[in-house]
Amino acid sequence: MEFDEQRKQKTEEANRILSRYFPGETGEEHLLCEAMNYSVSAGGKRLRPVLLLETFRMFGGADSSAEPFAAAIELIHTYSLVHDDLPAMDNDRYRRGKLTTHAKFGEAVGILAGDALLNYAFEIMSDAVCTQGACAAKAMRILAAKAGVRGMIAGQTVDLVYTGKPLSVELLNYINERKTSALLSAALMAGAALAGAKEEELRILEQVGIYAGLAFQIKDDILDVTGDEAKLGKPLHSDEKNEKTTYVALTGIEEAEKKVRQYSGQAAELLDTLPYRDSFLKELLLYLAERNY
Ligand code: IPE
Ligand code: IPE
Ligand code: MG
Ligand code: MG
Ligand code: MG
Repeated sequence: MEFDEQRKQKTEEANRILSRYFPGETGEEHLLCEAMNYSVSAGGKRLRPVLLLETFRMFGGADSSAEPFAAAIELIHTYSLVHDDLPAMDNDRYRRGKLTTHAKFGEAVGILAGDALLNYAFEIMSDAVCTQGACAAKAMRILAAKAGVRGMIAGQTVDLVYTGKPLSVELLNYINERKTSALLSAALMAGAALAGAKEEELRILEQVGIYAGLAFQIKDDILDVTGDEAKLGKPLHSDEKNEKTTYVALTGIEEAEKKVRQYSGQAAELLDTLPYRDSFLKELLLYLAERNY
């Protein structure tokens, strides 16, 4: 099967899993649930759950035990986007082709919906830990750390601190490795951990995720300048508006494109050092450099 068709099917699989976890829009708090479901069902590439499920299979996983984690990582990612778009952060009004959650429901509900998505992700993972045991606990630990104080939130914080300030390539990598690579490493590591992978294999996957995330974020920064707004589903020139120093600003588009190819190539090469093969996963890592949305 062609890569594009495979990617489409795996994205649909992630959507089917996610749809089982939408909170019912009932009770006095129905507005919160509507805002949560709005942000998650708006679409998105579902890259993180697809990576998690694929790595699980690559390491021999064959049952449904990775599904709660596939849902949880997309909920965590979506919360990070809801908060990233808030007026206090990037102040963007469009995401995934629709009004951002705060633009649609108001800022306070946007904040609360983000909080609830994060919390709900941990509720789903805790349920899985109760029934599945040690491998699930390890996967939850990975997601918690990578999304947390030394992971994604650290990257978002340093990104904010350096807004409007000059930045070295080293510091930019520090930010990107946290705000973006951390969740990609988490997807690969959690999928493998659920299938019983060894510690040294998890360390390799962590580094694959670091390279993939660097490629992914630099490409995101390039698309912020050169992309097609309708296809991207979010506004162009958000980084310029917010005075963000990106690779594009530091080195120009051509050098930035080279970096994207370099990092996605390194991710794919390192994946090949593992004693398992998954051609879809490798193609997906290389596709990160070619994507146009
Ligand atoms: C956007 O992530 C935020 C970054 C880390 C660059 P995605 O590009 O994966 O967003 P969706 O999930 O497809 O909307
Ligand atoms: C944010 O990076 C990454 C997150 C952790 C949400 P950006 O601010 O560049 O992401 P977009 O362009 O708004 O999706
Ligand atoms: Mg941002
Ligand atoms: Mg943003
Ligand atoms: Mg961006």
